[in-house]
Amino acid sequence: MKSYKISIIKGDGIGPEVIGATEKVINAVEEKFSLYFEKIFIEAGLEAFKKYGTNLPSFSLEMIKQSECLLKGPTTSLEGEGTELGVPVKIRKIFDLYANLRPLRNLPRVKSVYNNVDLLIVRENTEGMYSGLEYRINEGVYIGIRVATEKGAQRIINEAFEQARVRRKKITLGHKSNVLKMTDGLYKQVFENISKRYDDVEAKEEHIDALAMKLVMKPQDYDVIVLENLYGDIISDLAAGLVGGLGMAPSANIGETFAMFEPVHGSAPDIAGKNIANPIASILSFSMCLEWIGEKEASQAVNRAVVNSLEKGDKLTVDLGGSATTYEMAESIAKEIISINV
Ligand code: NAD
Ligand code: IPM
Ligand code: MN
Repeated sequence: MKSYKISIIKGDGIGPEVIGATEKVINAVEEKFSLYFEKIFIEAGLEAFKKYGTNLPSFSLEMIKQSECLLKGPTTSLEGEGTELGVPVKIRKIFDLYANLRPLRNLPRVKSVYNNVDLLIVRENTEGMYSGLEYRINEGVYIGIRVATEKGAQRIINEAFEQARVRRKKITLGHKSNVLKMTDGLYKQVFENISKRYDDVEAKEEHIDALAMKLVMKPQDYDVIVLENLYGDIISDLAAGLVGGLGMAPSANIGETFAMFEPVHGSAPDIAGKNIANPIASILSFSMCLEWIGEKEASQAVNRAVVNSLEKGDKLTVDLGGSATTYEMAESIAKEIISINV
């Protein structure tokens, strides 16, 4: 039996609910595909902060390093001057998980403004405005430093072109080099250079403000969208809104040797503790994890099980117009995994 060491951060708010639901899917995958996941539960987030004074204690980090990949529930970020960076931002930097892949597509029965939306947002994950370089230089005057490096731009844009090549062969860079002439200018220059090596991929660039408008008006025109960190954060939530909301948006944070999988959404304090959160974003994140570790058949089975369960439509969470609980929906998906013909 093949076995994998997976570290798991349950997270805050709805985190323990959606990750608990995903554990049902992990169990079904183990049963169906004769796999074993050794689960290493990691203390991180708000509870860890209250207990240890930091959201990511060094022993937690060491435990994550002992595993092959990390499944992460959403964690609540502290706000205000002097507070530490959020857990995902720290982990992305520490493990150099530079490529944040965020697929967003319409699924059956999920109400949305359009049909046929099938996007992949490729978000740079380690630099930009999220480098933690903010300073108060005078009373009432603050500065934040945006980092853009040639290496950072090259590796994320290369990754995005590779992704486009195995999809519909269209790629768009969103930038604002009309104002941010050096930082976004660098991304634009690197994009133009790399596009010369991919003459099979249709490449275009758009100002990020215009892109935001066009994405809302005609999302079907887009395939892969490559964005620096902050734009990628904002546009991925916008795009989630085009396919049924944040409950439908999974993600993979990928580096050279390690990867973290988490829903795009946060800890959703407004619905936490009610067992009503949509677990699909977390379940599809686990599917991306299966693909990354090389269990392609199991990964596809999870995707198919989500589609099959949605098509049946009797176990939908509140955000999808149903009344099923988080766990009922996950159980329905787990059952579909067991009954799939492979
Ligand atoms: P959020 O994503 O938690 O919630 C936004 C809205 O979407 C809310 O109305 C919420 O109820 C809804 N929503 C989110 N996930 C859902 C789900 N699975 N099913 C149904 N509805 C869902 O964003 P926020 O309110 O801006 O952030 C709350 C906290 O989460 C903040 O502290 C933020 O920093 C943190 N956060 C963490 C992560 C992460 O750990 N990766 C990601 C985003 C936000
Ligand atoms: C995300 C989140 C995080 C980010 C926050 C919680 C630090 O919004 O993963 O999209 O900004 O990257
Ligand atoms: Mn976000």
